[in-house]
Amino acid sequence: MMMKQLLLSFSALLVFLLHCTTTIAQAPAKSPKPKLKGPANVTAILEKAHRFNSLIRLMENTQMGDRINTELATASGGLTLFAPADNAFASLKAGTLNSLTDLQKSQLVQFHVLTAYNSLPQFQTVSNPVPTQAGDTSKGHFPLSITMGGNQVNISTGLTNATITSSIYTDGQLAVYEVDKVLLPLEIFNPLPPAPAAAPKKAAAPPPPVLAPSPAAPVANITSVDASSAMGLMIRHAAVSFGVAAIAAFFL
Ligand SMILES: *[C@@H]1O[C@H](CO)[C@@H](O)[C@H](O)[C@H]1NC(C)=O
Ligand SMILES: *[C@@H]1O[C@H](CO)[C@@H](O)[C@H](O)[C@H]1NC(C)=O
Ligand SMILES: *[C@@H]1O[C@H](CO)[C@@H](O)[C@H](O)[C@H]1NC(C)=O
Ligand SMILES: *[C@@H]1O[C@H](CO)[C@@H](O)[C@H](O)[C@H]1NC(C)=O
Repeated sequence: MMMKQLLLSFSALLVFLLHCTTTIAQAPAKSPKPKLKGPANVTAILEKAHRFNSLIRLMENTQMGDRINTELATASGGLTLFAPADNAFASLKAGTLNSLTDLQKSQLVQFHVLTAYNSLPQFQTVSNPVPTQAGDTSKGHFPLSITMGGNQVNISTGLTNATITSSIYTDGQLAVYEVDKVLLPLEIFNPLPPAPAAAPKKAAAPPPPVLAPSPAAPVANITSVDASSAMGLMIRHAAVSFGVAAIAAFFL
C-alpha cells in the first residue's frame, strides 16, 4: 500500500521533473526570434495589393524588379518606391509608354525609386531636390521635389504633381507608397523648354541646332548605366550649345 503510494508520487515527481526539463530546454530555443526572412521581394509585395499590374509588367519588361530586389539584398540604406496604381497608368495620354525606348522605360521605373528608405515622417525633413535611382545626383538629373504638410506628401517632377495616397509596405529597409499619378520625368517628356525669343537684329543667326531623336535608340540594358548618363550628357551639351547660339543671336 505504502509502496504503491510512494511509487505513484515518485512517478508524479518524475513527470513533473520531465516537464520542467523539457520546458527549460524549449525556453532558450524560443528566445532568439526566427530571423530567417530574407530581404523583401518588391514584386511579391505589389502583387499582394492587386492593383499594380501595369507597374509590375513595366518592372518585369525592364528587369527593374530584379534589380530592386538585388539592391535591397546588398545596399544598406534601403529604398523607397513610389507605386502608381493601374488607374494612374490608365489616365496617361494614350501611347505614352509605347513612345518610350527601352532605356527610357527603365529610367521611368528608376525615377520612381529613391535611393534611401524613407518613413512617411522623414519626408518632413527631406532636402530637395531628392535624387532618384534614375539620376546622377552630382548632375541633378531626374530629381524629385517632395514637400510634406500635415499628413500630405506631395511629389513634383516639374511636369507631374502627385501625392502619396497610401502606404503599401514598410519594413525599415523598403518602403512602398502608392502615388496617384505616374511620375513623368522632365528629362524624358520635356527635353528642352521652347527657345526664348531673342530679338534678332540681323537675320543671319545660325539655325538653332535641331534636337533630333537619338538615331537608333540605345539598346535597353539595365546594366548600361553609361548609356543613360551619356544621353543626359548629350541633352546637356545640346542645351548648352543652344544657349550659346541664343546669346550669340542676341548680340549680333
Ligand atoms: C519575387 O516574387 C515574384 C512574384 O511572386 C516571384 O515570381 C519571384 O520569383 C520572387 N523572387 C525572388 C527572388 O524570390
Ligand atoms: C500638396 O498639394 C495640394 C494639392 O495640389 C496642395 O493643396 C497642398 O498645399 C500641397 N501641400 C504641400 C505641403 O505641398
Ligand atoms: C504643380 O504644382 C505647382 C505648384 O503648386 C504649380 O505651379 C504647377 O502648375 C502644377 N503643375 C501641374 C501640371 O499641375
Ligand atoms: C548588357 O550589357 C552588358 C555589359 O555591357 C552585357 O554583358 C550584357 O550581355 C548586356 N545584356 C543585354 C540584355 O543586352
